[in-house]
Amino acid sequence: MSYLSEKELYRKYMEFFETAERKRRWRVFDDIDWDLAGKVEPTDDAVLCAETFCAVESYMPDYVAEGLNLVRESFGQAWWHVNWGYEEAKHALALREYLVRTGRRTMDQMIDFEADVLRKRWTLPFGTIRQMVCYGALQEKTTWMIYRKQMLATRGSGDELLTSIYRFISRDEAAHGGFYLDVIGSCLAEDREGTISDLHHVFSRFTMPAYDLVPDYESRVRVMRAVGIDRKAFLREVFLPIMSRLQVGRRELARAAAQEAARRQEGELPTPPG
Ligand SMILES: [Fe+2]
Ligand SMILES: [Fe+2]
Repeated sequence: MSYLSEKELYRKYMEFFETAERKRRWRVFDDIDWDLAGKVEPTDDAVLCAETFCAVESYMPDYVAEGLNLVRESFGQAWWHVNWGYEEAKHALALREYLVRTGRRTMDQMIDFEADVLRKRWTLPFGTIRQMVCYGALQEKTTWMIYRKQMLATRGSGDELLTSIYRFISRDEAAHGGFYLDVIGSCLAEDREGTISDLHHVFSRFTMPAYDLVPDYESRVRVMRAVGIDRKAFLREVFLPIMSRLQVGRRELARAAAQEAARRQEGELPTPPG
């Protein structure tokens, strides 16, 4: 598999890190007005959603460990991954603090919940770095869309505290997605056919990370649909903008799909489960 040079990956990491340090950093203890915790009245749905996102972000040890092992020989990618892990850890922390400080969950309940969550383990959904970059772009952009929709819903219900937390988190998710898209752009310039094949491979099998690992998954997803998080929104706000930004046409993806099907028929690739 063809992939980017270490020099280019390092340069991308440094650009991302410099912008993050200079312009995007936010502090859990100083930038969130926790005095609001005693004043807001979160709805049950908002609490359930915050707890769901907290659970998904709480797989951070698996995300970091699995991802870091995959890229450990690349300085730029390994250092980027650790910075990314720090930001994701902060997301889980802010949501956890929100649930406890508003009195909607006790510390003991959160500890039990997190222990329950981590009883299952997240593993890498794809086997190569470039496929994981494609997955990262789709996953981060979807996460951004979800937080943004939640932010609009909590703003509408007058929960300024959760709105401000979602604003900080969604800004981070947008930056993560942007980084992956930038890397994919370089991959396309270097090996267009191979990269589009990976894009098709990942996009046709995509599911959100860890959602299916979180306890009571189905009822949680039902609540999220109520604020407009569904397949239509995914296509309109995530998939199509990604394709447009990458300047990859549907025909190119269809060609990659046909090539994959042909290779499977010839026995070069295993038939995917399901
Ligand atoms: Fe996150
Ligand atoms: Fe993220």
